Amino acid sequence: QDSPGPAPQLMMCLLCFLPYAENLLVLTVATKQTEGFRRFRRSAQFFNYKVQVLGLDEEWKGGDDKKPAGGGQKVRLLKTALKQYADDADLIILFIESYDVLFASGPTELLKKFKQAKSKVVFSAENYIYPDRKLEAKYPQVRDGKRFLGSGGFIGYAPNLKKLVEEWKGQDDDSDQLFYTNVFLDPEKRENINISLDHRSRIFQNLNGALDEVVLKFENARVRARNLLYDTLPVVIHGNGPTKLQLNYLGNYIPQIWTFETGCTVCDEGLQMILIGIFIEQPTPFLSQFFSRLRKLHYPKQRIQLFIHNHEHGKEYLAIKVIGPDDEMENAEARNLGMDLCRKDPDCDYYFSLDAEVVLKNTETLRILIEQNKLVIAPLVSRHEKLWSNFWGALSPDGYYARSEDYVDIVQRRRVGLWNVPYISSVYMVKASTLRSELDQGDLFHSGKLDADMAFCHNVRNQGVFMYLTNRHQFGHILSLENYQTNHLHNDLWQIFSNPEDWREKYIHENYTAALKGKLVEMPCPDVYWFPIFTDTACDELVEEMEHYGKWSTGDNTDSRIQGGYENVPTIDIHMNQIGFEREWYKFLLDYIAPITEKLYPGYYTKLAFVVRYKPDEQPSLMPHHDASTFTINIALNRVGIDYEGGGCRFLRYNCSIRAPRKGWTLMHPGRLTHYHEGLPTTKGTRYIAVSFLDP
Ligand SMILES: *[C@@H]1O[C@H](CO)[C@@H](O)[C@H](O)[C@H]1NC(C)=O
Ligand SMILES: *[C@@H]1O[C@H](CO)[C@@H](O)[C@H](O)[C@H]1NC(C)=O
Ligand SMILES: *[C@@H]1O[C@H](CO)[C@@H](O)[C@H](O)[C@H]1NC(C)=O
Repeated sequence: QDSPGPAPQLMMCLLCFLPYAENLLVLTVATKQTEGFRRFRRSAQFFNYKVQVLGLDEEWKGGDDKKPAGGGQKVRLLKTALKQYADDADLIILFIESYDVLFASGPTELLKKFKQAKSKVVFSAENYIYPDRKLEAKYPQVRDGKRFLGSGGFIGYAPNLKKLVEEWKGQDDDSDQLFYTNVFLDPEKRENINISLDHRSRIFQNLNGALDEVVLKFENARVRARNLLYDTLPVVIHGNGPTKLQLNYLGNYIPQIWTFETGCTVCDEGLQMILIGIFIEQPTPFLSQFFSRLRKLHYPKQRIQLFIHNHEHGKEYLAIKVIGPDDEMENAEARNLGMDLCRKDPDCDYYFSLDAEVVLKNTETLRILIEQNKLVIAPLVSRHEKLWSNFWGALSPDGYYARSEDYVDIVQRRRVGLWNVPYISSVYMVKASTLRSELDQGDLFHSGKLDADMAFCHNVRNQGVFMYLTNRHQFGHILSLENYQTNHLHNDLWQIFSNPEDWREKYIHENYTAALKGKLVEMPCPDVYWFPIFTDTACDELVEEMEHYGKWSTGDNTDSRIQGGYENVPTIDIHMNQIGFEREWYKFLLDYIAPITEKLYPGYYTKLAFVVRYKPDEQPSLMPHHDASTFTINIALNRVGIDYEGGGCRFLRYNCSIRAPRKGWTLMHPGRLTHYHEGLPTTKGTRYIAVSFLDP
């Protein structure tokens, strides 16, 4: 696994002793400190650029995404700022966007490449011409490289830049792109100011229309973006136009900012109030385990409020609000409501959204997520040993799932870190302050015809808020909800195929693993093995399921099964196939009994499986008999001395009895020939055992 990099403090201090590059100043315009801006600033700090931000907290009047023209405000701010630098003939200024820009290298390389360009001003270049296509004919031809000017980034000597913007008299929402284009396309001005374009992306990489040209190049501890078309290593990467998500992707690697990012400084977990929204949107197995894990989360319950859509639980929490099925609230509405409870509660610090199919095993999850200090963050959870998870690494052009190159590595934790991703779901944490600012529109879970989860991510992305995924720790997994049958009393029993690990946790005895290793296997009589197999819950649910079904055999010889010759002596029983549990039972035998029998009696398969009931007034005992099997397993499903008295099993040939069967433990003994045995009388209560005959 990748190491998360050097310790944060160390990295910071190595850099903070370096002097800034002389004669280089980065100017950028940012009216708001968006997450994109903060990423830009961190990347500048990482490489030790000296940055001056223009227009901070000024109202933005320069247009928006929906109105591509605009940006004039940036020219005005630059023109004003340049007044103080214009006399400094040696000063080189990089003017650059900041919401969607990253540095991929430092000032030394930038200055070297600028000087090699042998112009006083160098603009970034693009494949697309905008905003006025009619100007194409005026553009000089280029032999190799991108032909058109892009105003998102340029670098030049201060006096030349002053000349460049001197004639600006436009409005804040006039197009800066058109203004610079016109200057450039005027041959006299171009020569006079001495402007060239960075045709081959040696300095500037605009991603729009160029995604296929750019790959990540991993080299030792560093990652660079390489332009394959021109074989260059651009210094400034700009996710212009519709390529913001691709920039987010590159930003996960260049520079590896997260390696020195600091988490929150005041992470006093005791003080942060969390509202947990729990969503049970469809029939979900293992719900009682879900709530018991929720209780086990390490976080003061007095600082947790619960909002539950569709279910009821818990009294020990600070507050609890439940929206049940009778309220007929649909998914998106309920999610809006949960979020709004936190948004409107001035004491709420974090909103934690948790869907019932998430098996959150890491009890430190809340604290870990808070410490990452992100506005929106999800812990990675995926289906057991599958690639299905709660995030997408990329979006398709129409806004649906697309697999990123690193998706598999992140799911399988071959790369660990914090990942800026376009889609998260199922479990995530949002800062309440973000709900009250960037995400303050009440309805985050609707957007056109999108499902609630996709609508949420769409709206968060539109607000320029980054969604992070962390796989720095193991957090848990997601249940498969496919094939969840709800027609039984205890539906989870049937989950052995869909969610085998969760089934095992609920139903298989905690000491089974020890038994498998040969420990804890007892031999109470010759060739009779005795070991733990079921949890109490497994025993109880199986008995309840049988009683719920209720059609016990009569125990006389008219039973067709007996005439078929399977049972030598009739019992009061219900067979597994009668409750539709045959496949599941065989899977259980295969997964849990076979591995032990392979050690004890190799090579057998199961023939018959049923639950037997013994009662003093019904059938208290079973006369001596051979089982019609090569060997038999016999699992005690309740407790002697508490649920019943008497009972047990006696092997006549050895004059050996097991009088105190243990609940959840199985006896395993040979059937025919040697192990002639009888069921000892149950004198009080009801005794249940699960029996299986196994044959070669
Ligand atoms: C810029 O000036 C240099 C000489 O200093 C000259 O070689 C170059 O052609 C000029 N470029 C433009 C675009 O005028
Ligand atoms: C499992 O074995 C340990 C050690 O023998 C014992 O302390 C524990 O109670 C056992 N668990 C159960 C559920 O019986
Ligand atoms: C069987 O064992 C019991 C004690 O466990 C003993 O009292 C009895 O005599 C034995 N019977 C035979 C036939 O050996």
